[in-house]
Amino acid sequence: MFYNIDCIEGCKKYLDDNTVDLIITDPPYGINGDKLHKHYNRNESFVLDGYVEIPKSDYRDFSFKWIKEAERILKPGGTIYIVSGYTNLVDILDALKATSLTEINHIIWKYNFGVYTKNKFISSHYHILFYTKPGKEHTFNTFCRFGDGEKDLKNGSLNYQDREDVWIINKEYKPGKIKNKNELPTELLIKMIQYSSNENDLVCDLFLGSFSTAKVALGLNRNAIGFEISSTAFKHQIENIQKIKKGCLLNDIRKPTETNISNRGKYWDIHEIDKLKMRYLELIRYKNKKETILALSKEFGRGHFAILNKIESFNEIDEFKLF
Ligand SMILES: C[S@@+](CC[C@H](N)C(=O)[O-])C[C@H]1O[C@@H](n2cnc3c(N)ncnc32)[C@H](O)[C@@H]1O
Repeated sequence: MFYNIDCIEGCKKYLDDNTVDLIITDPPYGINGDKLHKHYNRNESFVLDGYVEIPKSDYRDFSFKWIKEAERILKPGGTIYIVSGYTNLVDILDALKATSLTEINHIIWKYNFGVYTKNKFISSHYHILFYTKPGKEHTFNTFCRFGDGEKDLKNGSLNYQDREDVWIINKEYKPGKIKNKNELPTELLIKMIQYSSNENDLVCDLFLGSFSTAKVALGLNRNAIGFEISSTAFKHQIENIQKIKKGCLLNDIRKPTETNISNRGKYWDIHEIDKLKMRYLELIRYKNKKETILALSKEFGRGHFAILNKIESFNEIDEFKLF
């Protein structure tokens, strides 16, 4: 459901308390609209008119109001990602502080197409504030994209790298296509939605712009709701969104290559430990340690590090010191 309405009014009218699983939103930045394009190095003729800015003098009060609504509509354990520039970040942080929402991460999103400046460093990052509503454990699908045994060519953990709090994701270059002034890249949205929601969850964006959050949420088989005050942007995008087929992105997303981890997090009983010791001693005779762990991980339905840690604990036993 999408509404061409101010988001504060829209939340009050259309969303009950504790109903939304995930909010991903990118509020207006409170810098004069006609200066916004100076942030980007691009041809403005394809940028859709009708971006509604909030005057700097109203920004703080406005931020407190919409963030209070966001807190109200989130389920306990629900999460929110707010994308913000640096200019008015303090207002967003103070507004968050005035709610019960608690910080999970302060993410830095490093992008391309920063504005070239001569006498200072080039601004090329945004802040993403990742918070949760207390009351229940928040959804975080740690292994939704990379299994814990997946490595890059230098043997670095891909799961660790994907979960670092500095994200290097390029803005999309869409020459000749109509876009919103500040369209979020699909890759960035996929990452937030995969980690912080499950299929059929409800994802909300209070500032739809080009409906990018909603499009990706539907593509990943989530439900979507949101608000956009500009009727120009709304009219243009409401037609596009109807063409999105629910779940259409599911085949294209990164999935862990390690699939047999059905016993992750389960208690190790004494029989399983004994069996692991026996199988380790058998396999290590003709495989190297890495291959052995990979084979055991598949056989025992446990992650790479779970097997490794267990085996290292056997080193206290004499016969394992040999290996
Ligand atoms: C930074 S853009 C969002 C961009 C969007 N994430 C995308 O990827 O296209 C902010 C949007 O909020 C809209 N907006 C401004 N004030 C609003 C309000 N009070 N309620 C709802 N939308 C509003 C603007 O018109 C603009 O489209």
